[in-house]
Amino acid sequence: MKIAIIIYSESGRTQQAAELIGKGIEQVEGCEYRIMNVDPQAGKPVDNDYIHQADAVIFGTPTYYANICWQLKKFIDETDASFAGKLGAVFATANALGGGSETAMLTLINQILVKGMLVYSGGTSLGKPNTHLGVTSIKEVPMEQQEEKMVIFGTRIAQKAKELFEK
Ligand SMILES: Cc1cc2nc3c(=O)[nH]c(=O)nc-3n(C[C@H](O)[C@H](O)[C@H](O)COP(=O)(O)O)c2cc1C
Repeated sequence: MKIAIIIYSESGRTQQAAELIGKGIEQVEGCEYRIMNVDPQAGKPVDNDYIHQADAVIFGTPTYYANICWQLKKFIDETDASFAGKLGAVFATANALGGGSETAMLTLINQILVKGMLVYSGGTSLGKPNTHLGVTSIKEVPMEQQEEKMVIFGTRIAQKAKELFEK
């Protein structure tokens, strides 16, 4: 089962978070992932065939002014890939606690709902760590304290995708 992780990352933090989420996806038998960066210069091109085959797509954005970054918004506005009926999940990175990653994730959730995705985070339904709207990676918090949540988030999304779509 394929899971696409679509991000924008300029200085690497969102990429790092995506890799941890990918680590969690790989822990679920039969699940694989590919990270795609909407910046063509990043060398991880968006692959519409892979997205077409994927049962779930996880979107990751750096927080820009408490919002989704414009690069990912532009991609979502312009892409001709179809996300309808796929499981959708989101994560964000930010510099500061209270820096607006939650509003960035909410904006992203609005957009993938409009694309017809089945939005899921696990939330508080699976016990600790709670994954609320999605997961966040915050620069001012040591990475070791955030890694476990990222990995578990990936696992939860992959498990839900299997539950919904495995034939
Ligand atoms: C234009 C711009 C606006 C930003 N706005 C915020 C913000 O509102 N809150 C915050 O905590 N961090 C903000 N940041 C910091 C980034 O969200 C943060 O460094 C992010 O983790 C960078 O991700 P990347 O390393 O994947 O590019 C901003 C950065 C830029 C470039």
